[in-house]
Amino acid sequence: MDLFDKFEPLLQAKAKLPFEDGDPFTVCMEKVISQTEAIINGRHTILAGTNNYLGLTFDRTCIEAAHKALDEQGTGTTGSRVLNGTYAGHRGLEEALAEFYGTAHAMVFSTGYQANLGMISTLCGPKDFLLIDADSHASIYDGCKMGDATVVRFRHNDANDLDKRLRRIDSSAGRLVVLEGLYSMLGDRAPLKELVAVAKAHGASVLVDEAHSLGVYGATGRGVSQEDGVEDQVDFIVGTFSKSVGTIGGFCVSNHPKFEVMRLVCRPYLFTASLPPSVVASATAAVKIMGRSPKLREQLWRNARQLHDGLEKLGFSLGAPVSPISAVKISDQATAMRFWAGLLQAGVYVNLAFPPATPQGIYLLRCSLSAAHTPEQIDFMLDKFKEVGLALGEIGPNRVSETRPAGADARTIASPLAAGAAAATG
Ligand SMILES: Cc1ncc(COP(=O)(O)O)c(C=O)c1O
Repeated sequence: MDLFDKFEPLLQAKAKLPFEDGDPFTVCMEKVISQTEAIINGRHTILAGTNNYLGLTFDRTCIEAAHKALDEQGTGTTGSRVLNGTYAGHRGLEEALAEFYGTAHAMVFSTGYQANLGMISTLCGPKDFLLIDADSHASIYDGCKMGDATVVRFRHNDANDLDKRLRRIDSSAGRLVVLEGLYSMLGDRAPLKELVAVAKAHGASVLVDEAHSLGVYGATGRGVSQEDGVEDQVDFIVGTFSKSVGTIGGFCVSNHPKFEVMRLVCRPYLFTASLPPSVVASATAAVKIMGRSPKLREQLWRNARQLHDGLEKLGFSLGAPVSPISAVKISDQATAMRFWAGLLQAGVYVNLAFPPATPQGIYLLRCSLSAAHTPEQIDFMLDKFKEVGLALGEIGPNRVSETRPAGADARTIASPLAAGAAAATG
């Protein structure tokens, strides 16, 4: 049997979908013009589906820091952090993160995916329990798969369900509750106060992935843990440099007195090359800017409100209250694809998301905003949402969503955005 035969159903399902306007999962930015504009399919396009929340990818200080490091230290380290891959810059970035969070320890990974993979699979062994939110990111599910702990899923953002599940576990076992600050697909925020209180009442440890909330929430941008005043009860904060920080890499910060042992036992930290010096330099500059730039955050929230309120006014159904992620719910998969293609042809790029990246039966046009968007660009997006939404009957007098049965053509394909939702037990 050919090893690729198992993918045949996926390829056949994909071939039947209306891809005539281009495959949404192989979009090429032919030329990047700025944080918010690119040429796609030869057309000038507004980018409303990046994670460049603060617009720092084109920040002059970050670019100059990267240039300098590139010139002085070369293109890469060619080695692991525990061999030849720790430069002064890596240490400096960890110091900057520890200072930003006010923690004793910070450890930098080569991606946020690896940070989750490493922390989750290493912290919990065969006798331990991992309690994860059902809507967790793929990196959290994969961290569970990689380790030997028993995995228990609780209902999304449901503190009562977490409590119920923790009650069933022997309290002498090691237990880690894994949460996210802001969920990336629907753009809904975790009720961290309640969830963390439940975890702590049971004596469990807590890890919060602030991938999408870093730079976005909290008085100095440290995330939802800061905004909700629970940082002192969160044992591990994981984050990424691939969103508001505008580059690539991941990290974990903690006050746990034995945290440093992770550098010796965490395989996704040990067995991969460290970040290149230019990336380390721009990430360090960005972390410093983030801590002292409330104006960027304020602008991001103004933009987020403009888009969210505008979409609601047009009659779209959104996944969550206002946040920099506005997830527009579309009635079925084929319409979502046509809508996505219509927006792209009109010069607006958003993310298309299906199950299993989204909860079952939910098809989304995921818009994410940046502080760098202008009010005029957001008005342009809203105009295009209106035009395409009216043409496809998702809004307006010909609205058909009520008459379409839920998931009518839900021949759901496993997209490259797959969250790996079937990975957990419990
Ligand atoms: C919640 C969450 N955690 C972790 C990651 C992984 O981040 P990175 O892009 O740095 O691998 C992502 C990225 O999509 C994410 O959304």
